[in-house]
Amino acid sequence: MWQIRICRDIDKSYFTEVSIMIHLEKLTYENFDDVFELKVKKVQYPFVASNCYSVAEAYVTMMCGGHVFPFAIYNDKRLVGFIQIGYGENADQDGVSVEKDNYEIWRFMIDKRYQGRGYGREALKLALDFIRTWPCGKAEFCWISYEPENEIARKLYASFGFEETGEMDGDEIVAVLKL
Ligand SMILES: CC(C)(COP(=O)(O)OP(=O)(O)OC[C@H]1O[C@@H](n2cnc3c(N)ncnc32)[C@H](O)[C@@H]1OP(=O)(O)O)[C@@H](O)C(=O)NCCC(=O)NCCS
Repeated sequence: MWQIRICRDIDKSYFTEVSIMIHLEKLTYENFDDVFELKVKKVQYPFVASNCYSVAEAYVTMMCGGHVFPFAIYNDKRLVGFIQIGYGENADQDGVSVEKDNYEIWRFMIDKRYQGRGYGREALKLALDFIRTWPCGKAEFCWISYEPENEIARKLYASFGFEETGEMDGDEIVAVLKL
């Protein structure tokens, strides 16, 4: 059982009032086509795989006995992004030291139309809440990796307490959060 439906209702008063009602939903026949249509900005293409590729990878991971949790991200009823959580050793990594028995934010994107509205921050909070329900058992860490040029992601993760370890996953920086 790993479906999660948690919402946070936040009223942010900047120049206009924006309501954020982010929740995560399991991929279904109803939403997977739309998830494949979500796109980041062109300059961000090197930062994240396409959602179609990520879901294919999730399928293969599951077929090989691995653990992976792909979620669609919604603001109220509107699909705005995608996040995929992994657990343990999966074949795609280059042997990151922390991967065994720990969780990973494997893929994470907010569609280019909806970036910069606070959705990514809320979705990441919910993903960490989900991880802390220990769907694959208790763990010490959640880790993540990102391109050195991805300043927005780097700052976002650091603000959650992710710390860079000095290790690389291929050409990506590894950062770890103590759960
Ligand atoms: C990283 C990503 C998921 C963040 O989602 P988002 O909804 O745009 O982020 P938020 O609006 O919640 O903002 C999070 C923080 O980033 C900052 N931020 C967002 N867009 C920014 C921009 N274009 N320039 C500068 N800062 C920006 C926000 O100010 C916010 O910081 P704060 O909370 O301290 O004010 C999104 O930018 C994305 O999909 N990027 C492309 C794919 C990617 O890089 N994925 C991560 C791979 S590791």
